[in-house]
Amino acid sequence: MQAMESSLMNDQTHQITLRFADGATHTVHSESGRSVLDVALQAGAPLIHQCHSGSCSSCIATLCAGDAATQPGATPSLLSSEYAAGQRLLCVTQANTDCVFELPYTSTAGQIAPVIANAFVNEVVRVASNVVRLTLELAEGDWLDFRPGQYLQLEVPGTGVVRSYSPSSIAADLPQLELLVRLLPGGAMSTWLQECARPDDVVKLHGPYGAFFLREEHRRAKHIFVAGGTGLAPVLSMIDGIRQWGGRKPQMLLNFGCATPDALFCLDELELRRQWLPTLETRITVDRGADGELLSGSPVSALREGDVTGPDTVAYLCGPQPMIDAATQRLIELGMSPEHIYSEQFVASH
Ligand SMILES: Cc1cc2nc3c(=O)[nH]c(=O)nc-3n(C[C@H](O)[C@H](O)[C@H](O)COP(=O)(O)OP(=O)(O)OC[C@H]3O[C@@H](n4cnc5c(N)ncnc54)[C@H](O)[C@@H]3O)c2cc1C
Ligand code: FES
Repeated sequence: MQAMESSLMNDQTHQITLRFADGATHTVHSESGRSVLDVALQAGAPLIHQCHSGSCSSCIATLCAGDAATQPGATPSLLSSEYAAGQRLLCVTQANTDCVFELPYTSTAGQIAPVIANAFVNEVVRVASNVVRLTLELAEGDWLDFRPGQYLQLEVPGTGVVRSYSPSSIAADLPQLELLVRLLPGGAMSTWLQECARPDDVVKLHGPYGAFFLREEHRRAKHIFVAGGTGLAPVLSMIDGIRQWGGRKPQMLLNFGCATPDALFCLDELELRRQWLPTLETRITVDRGADGELLSGSPVSALREGDVTGPDTVAYLCGPQPMIDAATQRLIELGMSPEHIYSEQFVASH
């Protein structure tokens, strides 16, 4: 266990203890009017963060002791049930007493610092009725790193707007990056991809960001992935990340679903991964029009008794919020520990 003392104390300060999943702790001292995230970052604590405004959920932590509340005027993107359960977004949280927070990642996870890089468009390929695969290549001399599941921000060329995407590829594939993008009517990125993007166009990237990434500390546990639509992207990256782990691979179950068969994509890639990784089972679902090996229903309805094989089973959920809520509830019914469930929702950009 490693402990670090930082920040000056004065009479108005409270002691904030940050406990990471690997047991490391950092102790910092609050300053009036400043968020827990700000004082912790200034003191060198390796906290994951991105928007600093309570909207991206990257800085989520659980309050285990003490009183810490949302700063006046801030509107964190937490459900009231999550807040009541102790979850806090540290960028908009202030400590009212001495506090202890638990972070859902190890003290080394936040050590990949976000950078800015340029990338060239290699290809934009339609892979389903409403999804394209965007392949990028980092410009000579530019580099970035990321963990499977983390996301990057892309500036839509010529518009000044920024959108978040989770690579479906892994860092070992760099300088190539692959993104799976759902096309939305009138969307800034969607329109650029369909009407303007050409090979060799330059896209500016920032990242990596996010606390949704493959946890190496659960290497031996059974892994359950539940993905809706392009929520498959970070899951593909995680499965490829597991493929790179040395030694015996864990049991894995992937439930992936879309509304209709024409909306499905990457089925060949999944089949390939099933051949590479005999411990991977896949269940592909559609809400309507199931035929052949497709299951009728959702990736959540395809979860079954016996899928959760022990208290250490770990789950990664990515898709629309209702799918994440339903999957979380179902997995807990099947015996999963809530603290082993990690999720990310692809919320719209503001
Ligand atoms: C952490 C994170 C990771 C993400 N990773 C991916 C990814 O890998 N692949 C991917 O396809 N998307 C991903 N997204 C969503 C992505 O950032 C954009 O929001 C999405 O691609 C729409 O961008 P756009 O510019 O085409 O549309 P916009 O100009 O943002 O929006 C067009 C219209 O669609 C609505 N809209 C936007 N996003 C959504 C949504 N998610 N659900 C419903 N309506 C919406 C808007 O309100 C607006 O009316 C991610 C989002 C986050 C926060
Ligand atoms: S950094 Fe985005 S919610 Fe806190």
